[in-house]
Amino acid sequence: MGQSITVTVNGEQKSADVEPRLLLVHFLREKLRLTGTHIGCDTTHCGACTVLVEGVPVKSCTMLAVQADGQQVTTVEALAAGGTLHPIQAAFKQEHGLQCGFCTPGMMLTSIALLNEKPDPSDDDIRWALSGNICRCTGYMNIVKAVKSAGAQMRASAAVPEAATAATRS
Ligand code: FES
Ligand code: FES
Repeated sequence: MGQSITVTVNGEQKSADVEPRLLLVHFLREKLRLTGTHIGCDTTHCGACTVLVEGVPVKSCTMLAVQADGQQVTTVEALAAGGTLHPIQAAFKQEHGLQCGFCTPGMMLTSIALLNEKPDPSDDDIRWALSGNICRCTGYMNIVKAVKSAGAQMRASAAVPEAATAATRS
């Protein structure tokens, strides 16, 4: 028997009747057709299915859709809003932080959560934050570089209004 849920996905409320055993990753991919969330293992190991739930990285193969009822979920599809790459996407492209791209949505969402919490992370901070996300292609060095570069870009963007305000005051 289905259960009615409403989840805010990428800013839009989505309601559906779902089986209580339906995983969040299947809800996103099959019910909402948001296939940017990948499935690499289905057993909480690879991190390819990582999304943000209330801003916190969650492996969506480990969470039931009914557990997301009433919550805000962000998937990779939200990042290039308006057709402009998010700084994390631009940085992964610039620093060659991806090869096949299978792990990349999960890597980027985990990185955004880190940068929101710690805008200027060390290499160790980045490696620790991404320790639940596996990449079989890149060797991780360029991923770390990409996260640092995105952090610098996001800090610079955040500093612009402050600098403009200071200039207005002087
Ligand atoms: S598919 Fe969820 S951790 Fe691998
Ligand atoms: S880029 Fe291929 S798995 Fe990471």
